Amino acid sequence: MEEERLRLDAAAQVAHAEVDFPAEWRFGAREAPVLGRRGAVSTTDEYATRVGLEVLERGGTAMDAAIAVSFALAVVNPSAGNIGGGGFMVTRLTGGETSALDYREKAPLAAHRDMYLDEDGELTDASLVGHLAAGVPGTVMGMWRAHERYGTLPWDELVQPAVELAEGFEVQERFARSIRGAAERLRTFETTRRTFLPDDRPPEVGETFRQPELARTLARIRDQGPDGFYGGETADLLVAEMERGGGIITHEDLARYDAVWREPVNFTYRNHTVTSMPPSSSGGVTMALMAHMLEEHDLAALGWHSPEMIHLMVEAWKRAYADRNQLLADIDFVPVPMDSLLSPSYARRRGAEIDPTRATPSEEIAPGLEIREPTETTHYSVVDEWGNAVAVTTTINSGYGNRVTVEGAGFLLNNEMDDFAAKPGFPNQFGLVQGEQNAIEPEKRMLSAMTPTVVADPDGRLLFVTGTPGGSTIITTVFQTLVGVVDFGMSVSQAVNAPRLHHQHLPDLLYWEAGGLAAETVGGLEAMGHILRERGGVSGDVQAILVLPDGTYSVYSDPRLGGTALAR
Ligand code: DON
Repeated sequence: MEEERLRLDAAAQVAHAEVDFPAEWRFGAREAPVLGRRGAVSTTDEYATRVGLEVLERGGTAMDAAIAVSFALAVVNPSAGNIGGGGFMVTRLTGGETSALDYREKAPLAAHRDMYLDEDGELTDASLVGHLAAGVPGTVMGMWRAHERYGTLPWDELVQPAVELAEGFEVQERFARSIRGAAERLRTFETTRRTFLPDDRPPEVGETFRQPELARTLARIRDQGPDGFYGGETADLLVAEMERGGGIITHEDLARYDAVWREPVNFTYRNHTVTSMPPSSSGGVTMALMAHMLEEHDLAALGWHSPEMIHLMVEAWKRAYADRNQLLADIDFVPVPMDSLLSPSYARRRGAEIDPTRATPSEEIAPGLEIREPTETTHYSVVDEWGNAVAVTTTINSGYGNRVTVEGAGFLLNNEMDDFAAKPGFPNQFGLVQGEQNAIEPEKRMLSAMTPTVVADPDGRLLFVTGTPGGSTIITTVFQTLVGVVDFGMSVSQAVNAPRLHHQHLPDLLYWEAGGLAAETVGGLEAMGHILRERGGVSGDVQAILVLPDGTYSVYSDPRLGGTALAR
């Protein structure tokens, strides 16, 4: 095996684009990705990546691996991996068939529009912290539906690795760092403190971390499928937790939850076919708007990250987010003008308003149509030897969700309710100013930015699998990896390592990662009227796979937080 991989490394050609990053930027433009011919997995955590790879080695498909990875992440990456949250899965089968699975959380039946406002109509923090912040979890049903349609290995074999990890795993650096960083928040609720700070301190690298209650919950899911979560003991524990903490999720909410297969958003960008998530995620539609506006322009001719290239991209983003924030929401509840938003002619009209030399102030950019009538998430990408590709982004919204661990069941709940417009017209935790369309209603799904994406080349062959966490920045981050690969011919490591930018219409600020723009580029953009804001910390955590011209998979995990990419 090892020998084969070495031969492959020597033979495969990883072409890096003629692009260099600013001298101060902390990641390289010529890093070697991991290569393999028969499958690749990239996730935030070595254990989860290994679980995925082992499923592929046993003959499972990318879909089987993705299901096993999802449950493994619920154990080893509890800040975002989950069974108490939800997510989206985008797939492309080897024959080109695409699908999109929506297992986003839903508002409980007892939810109502003003549930997060106090007597004076002011927003409270109840959409973020505590029992009331949780939407009805979708992950277990999502994995079940994915398995029902595409699974080839038995369900219990895919859940079992997670059960074993929950019984105990050796703490690695990323896990220790994450808990350490969240330690104060993890003390908000006693069950959560007991679960994640077992000796009243963050676990250290090399120690064994055990989650026995979670192991029992996962064993019930392994043995009973969704009934092991939405019914029986797990449901009883979850509802009891709600009653103790003033939450509103009931047995009926759990029994009614289902995941939905949706028509994926398929759009064309420079003859590539991009497949991404439709509402209840905004990701696919918003990227289509950006892509259609920018297709009119030759970005490559302007040079990567030249002020002119950045300017055009950012102006397109502002217009796309203006539409996103007002027009997009759960299509099962409100009318969303999907046909217009996805039509290249609509986006071109909107793109024609871009002044090539001056930034348009956001306050002058309104949504282009009228309607008639933070901080943690995780993405992973998997491909198999048959060319099936799976992109999954899943979350409990903020890092460690609403901070509530279900007593006796050992898993954290989400605070996804904050992704609704709890008070339309006012910013949520990501500063997104969203409209009426996305107001709270019972059983509605809150609008997401998660953008798991698969791209086929102009000949219809699988080219790229990508996605990231990052709240409102998810769409621009995924879009920048797409532009890197399609417009600039970047290698997977370049596309992931490249410094990132972000603009979401409101606030009217162009964010850039510290060290990621040269001083003269900043100056050039300011001269065009952009207001720039340097961001500390990291922006995104991309897990991506790029198929090389000879069919070899090149896979790369974002070094910003340190994940693991493996191939076979
Ligand atoms: O669905 C969404 O758009 C958000 N709940 C995602 C949250 C997120 O990415 C936080 N992470 N860094």
